[in-house]
Amino acid sequence: MTVLVLAGTSDARRLTAALAGRGIAAIASLAGAVRQPGPLAVPTRVGGFGGAGPFADYLREAGIRAVVDATHPFAAAITPRTVAVCRDLAIPCLRLERPPWVPGPGDNWTEIREEAEALHFIRPGQTVFLATGRQTLGRFAGLADMQVYCRQIDPPDTPFPFAQGGFVIGRPPFPVAEEEALFRRLGVDWLVVKNAGGGESRTKLDAARALGLPVLMLRRPEPPACAKVETVEAALHWVLSQGAPA
Ligand SMILES: NC(=O)c1ccc[n+]([C@@H]2O[C@H](COP(=O)([O-])OP(=O)(O)OC[C@H]3O[C@@H](n4cnc5c(N)ncnc54)[C@H](OP(=O)(O)O)[C@@H]3O)[C@@H](O)[C@H]2O)c1
Repeated sequence: MTVLVLAGTSDARRLTAALAGRGIAAIASLAGAVRQPGPLAVPTRVGGFGGAGPFADYLREAGIRAVVDATHPFAAAITPRTVAVCRDLAIPCLRLERPPWVPGPGDNWTEIREEAEALHFIRPGQTVFLATGRQTLGRFAGLADMQVYCRQIDPPDTPFPFAQGGFVIGRPPFPVAEEEALFRRLGVDWLVVKNAGGGESRTKLDAARALGLPVLMLRRPEPPACAKVETVEAALHWVLSQGAPA
């Protein structure tokens, strides 16, 4: 039996390591969004499949018997499509999605449904740090009068689309102390974050709390209608329950 792991998260990385450690045949799939992704523990294909039809063809041709969708909680296209295609092909499918962050004492978060809502909170002349990635930068077009910083992993291949601010290049993890120093140095007034969950990328929120910074927290897309687990261990358990050798 071969398992397909739709990857692009640290949980996917850990799951592929766990599958490889158990000798379970698996293939990882990356979208190709990051130019030099760190290696995964199983054979890896890179790039989009080209739509639902080609994805179904791939599943058939590669002899995939189970799919674990361990993509990012905000990867809004691949997740519902995976559920639909697996249902059509009667291939068992699991969503691995870590729990969202919840605010604690000292946090000053406001939940927003979409990027455009940020404009209701950030005043002209203020400085905003977008920890939301380059792909959705265009959705913040309304922030033209603000100083905008956007963090991304790869050096940019397009000009920065705002008059004031710039790209901040960095590959996670980011220690809390470095996040605090960065936000201080840039004079950040607001942080905008996707509610991705997980310990590794929480450090920006810990830094915001320490500095008393307000956070605009983007709410996650609706969860898919399929089996769902929150931990790598539970995903491994599910794979074993599908008939993989223990
Ligand atoms: N969205 C985020 O905030 C975020 C943050 C960190 C990491 N990521 C990772 O970056 C990747 C792309 O994210 P996205 O938000 O662009 O996703 P998306 O909107 O759900 O997907 C867009 C297209 O990218 C391709 N794709 C996505 N994940 C893929 C995978 N694991 N393997 C092969 N093709 C994949 C598919 O192309 P085809 O239709 O051609 O098959 C899909 O239709 C995901 O793997 C995700 O885990 C996303």
